[in-house]
Amino acid sequence: MSVRQALIILNGVAILAIVAVIAVRVLSLRRNPEPTPPPNKTPFLPDEDLEGRRLERVGGWSLLFVMVIAVSLPVYFLVEPDRQVDADEQFEERSVERGAVLFANEQSEAYDSTVSLGCADCHGVDGTGGSATQVLQPEDPSCEPDAEVTAGTPQVCRPVQVSWQAPALDVVLLRYDRAQVTQIITFGRPGTPMPAWGVASGEGSKNEQSIDDLVNYLASIQITPDEARKASTKALEQARDKAAADAEDAQQAVTDAEAAVGAAPPDELAGAQEELADAQDTLAAAISWRDQLAATSDGQIAFQLQCARCHTKGWSYFDPLDPDAALPPGPMGGGAFGPNLTGGAELRQFPGATGIEEQVLFVAEGVAPNKPYGVRGISSGRMPHFNQTLTEEQIQLIIDYERTL
Ligand code: HEC
Ligand code: HEC
Repeated sequence: MSVRQALIILNGVAILAIVAVIAVRVLSLRRNPEPTPPPNKTPFLPDEDLEGRRLERVGGWSLLFVMVIAVSLPVYFLVEPDRQVDADEQFEERSVERGAVLFANEQSEAYDSTVSLGCADCHGVDGTGGSATQVLQPEDPSCEPDAEVTAGTPQVCRPVQVSWQAPALDVVLLRYDRAQVTQIITFGRPGTPMPAWGVASGEGSKNEQSIDDLVNYLASIQITPDEARKASTKALEQARDKAAADAEDAQQAVTDAEAAVGAAPPDELAGAQEELADAQDTLAAAISWRDQLAATSDGQIAFQLQCARCHTKGWSYFDPLDPDAALPPGPMGGGAFGPNLTGGAELRQFPGATGIEEQVLFVAEGVAPNKPYGVRGISSGRMPHFNQTLTEEQIQLIIDYERTL
């Protein structure tokens, strides 16, 4: 039994005792309706009795109680702030634990089949990013909306299933403040696989506290800005090497597939030839992507790594090794969740030399919701800030590139 429970029981017993005493007094009044003489007419104890042992005993007890209070009040005064801090910490720890359970999927340690929401399915078990399948509806104007898909439906009018990159969340609080992350989890990202989870959205089932638990959990898994900047520097430095390595792997796969065709018994030949054709397609795509990246500026590669998922339509599901898997992405920077940056839009939004500085500030530090930026911009708070995940040099490279769009 905890101290708290013991105190509750003690209080309960005291209240019962008071009720019992009152009841006994009331009942005894009923039983002796004869009025006793009023107290001021009854003779009281003589002085000898009053000033005897009884008085000393009562005085002794009073002194004892006064001492208990005199000691316990300062002790309480000294201990209470620590107790409050402890309670706060424990509250925070429990919130993070609840958040971890909500975030978990079957592969996570914290998984609880009745509570977990499976964020980890898309964002990775440790929140370092992953992907989600999404079905895209056809957009070609010649397609009949809501028409049933049959064998005769032309390719452009068929829904396509794509693999949509879900961003890493172990840096999300380096890019956004808490309020914005709370907003995203509550309302989701319409038009992407990210669902709305909050009751406030009218679609989700989670109350404010659960969303808060999720944000606290995310806060507990954030890496440091230094680590984040190192990771983005590495990704930028290695982008071209990675494309070259992918092309080598694809070349090896073709060589292997050719050998398999040579060695295939007649009944497996068709299958082996099909695999060879696939491997050759991948190789062609890998070589084309490698050559494209070799001719792409660092600023554009950094933009593709950091910004294109929001500012370029279809970039989240573009796979350079399988470019025909979905419609090709829209023009780089042509707008998606974030606005179209092409056609000199940024030269107009942030004109001149002071404009460049303001644009750097906007991208590096962000602008609070409802505050103006540039010539005619009003921030909605949805654009992340990048000064904690990118180096100043990278931000400058990206902005130099953006201003050529
Ligand atoms: C079905 C897959 C899926 C699930 C489940 C999912 N997400 Fe997402 N989430 C995504 C995708 C995809 C995006 C990126 C959307 C985009 O392209 O703008 C995203 C974006 C986010 C973002 C914004 C990150 C940024 O930098 O843009 C946050 C925060 C987030 N998710 C948190 C969560 C949390 C918390 C949960 C669980 C309660 C969750 N997600 C569950 C797919 C998912
Ligand atoms: C999570 C999605 C997202 C990402 C990632 C993102 N942006 Fe944005 N961006 C937005 C949104 C949304 C806006 C619109 C402004 C607003 O809502 O406050 C915006 C606006 C902008 C603007 C102002 C455009 C104008 O003319 O009003 C610039 C410049 C910009 N982003 C640059 C970048 C750069 C550079 C990066 C990468 C380093 C980037 N963005 C990454 C979502 C994003």
